[in-house]
Amino acid sequence: MKIQPVKFLSGRVRLPGDKSISHRAAILASMANGETRIENFGTSADCASTLNCLENLGVEIKREDAAVLISGSGKKNFTKPASELDCGNSGTSMRLLAGVLAGQNFDSSLIGDASLSKRPMRRVIEPLALMDAKIESKEGSAPLKIYGKNPLKSVVYEMPVASAQVKSCVLLAGLNAEGVSKIQNPKSENRVSTSRNHTELMLRFLGAEIEDNFVEIDDGFVHEISIDGNSNLTARNLNVPSDISSAAFFIIAAACLENSEIILENVGLNPTRTAIIEVLRQLGAEIDTLDQKEKCNELIGDLRVRGNENFTPKILSNKIEGEVIANLIDEIPILAIFGTKLENGLEIRGAGELRVKESDRIAAVVENLRRMNADVEEFTDGFRVGKSRLKGARIDSFDDHRIAMAFAVAALFAEGETEIIGAECAAVSFPEFFQVLGQVIK
Ligand code: S3P
Repeated sequence: MKIQPVKFLSGRVRLPGDKSISHRAAILASMANGETRIENFGTSADCASTLNCLENLGVEIKREDAAVLISGSGKKNFTKPASELDCGNSGTSMRLLAGVLAGQNFDSSLIGDASLSKRPMRRVIEPLALMDAKIESKEGSAPLKIYGKNPLKSVVYEMPVASAQVKSCVLLAGLNAEGVSKIQNPKSENRVSTSRNHTELMLRFLGAEIEDNFVEIDDGFVHEISIDGNSNLTARNLNVPSDISSAAFFIIAAACLENSEIILENVGLNPTRTAIIEVLRQLGAEIDTLDQKEKCNELIGDLRVRGNENFTPKILSNKIEGEVIANLIDEIPILAIFGTKLENGLEIRGAGELRVKESDRIAAVVENLRRMNADVEEFTDGFRVGKSRLKGARIDSFDDHRIAMAFAVAALFAEGETEIIGAECAAVSFPEFFQVLGQVIK
């Protein structure tokens, strides 16, 4: 994909459904009793992987234009798949389905592409083993062979890293466990969820007995979520808001190009996902929330972004670290691009998790920013980028969708042409990215 610089962005767009929420909607609808219509289901290749796995597990699924219809038959009524379940590039599919499959009365195998087969799976194998599931892996990564068992044992599990995928895996396994299972997020200084909470909100919406409490300890809080294994889910139609992580590319593109004004409609504004908006506002970007409502327990609203040439940060330090990182993790590659526009640059620390995403995102961001002539320094747990005039370059997507899209945005205000190698991997989360970008660039 070759990209030339543009003048500004203008328009009103409605982006496809949130990837995280779509995975959960498909899985929970399959475990509910009855028919579910999921509106605005994500169009990503990752969400398609989850649907394919569920179909291989005997779930009846119909696809309409922007909706998916799922016939659920209860939380343990899946059937033994005829072949291995292919999660493609999708870590969420693999980690969440591992939780479902551990509690079924049959054995199954989860496989993935080359990138997914390198990603750490011990983080789900360990809590599931404590629940009495037996899982074989290849040195802690996929393929995963799951020896299902029903019921599982309940567990109280303290997560070593703040991960919504691990938390969701345990909650899904907990639905097929005897008694109440508890999962604790790592300690936090504030009463906030340190990982996205879509699974909890949807489980509650579908009638599960789920509670969340902040347990006060010496120097902070532990966020604990409990799920009762006696819970049954009742099918209810679900609505998926537009994906805020996809919106982030347009928010930053518009914010960085003077005279831009775009409106992003119907964006998911769950507080565990909006850290990107808060951080951008603190760094001086002009983003307004136009109207906000709640649907299926999730907050939704329209965002208006206006472009600027210079930014006046409302915070003293341009170093981002600590608790906020987990709620910002998928937006860090595009935030790095925003950093090149800031007088004092931007430093990201405590983000070592980025090294085990679809690619090593710290290395990928640093390498590509260097190719674009940016002043950048790499750390084990992050990077620092200084204010830089970007130059068009040949960019390696490292087959990582968020890297391809982040650097496509950088190309819009670089000097000269940029070429993104492997840009088609954007389809992993956002197949329409380049088409929508084409509609709003001027
Ligand atoms: C996701 C959680 C995050 C995120 C990923 C999607 C989810 O991963 O990076 O893109 O849908 O639960 P972790 O839970 O591993 O932090």
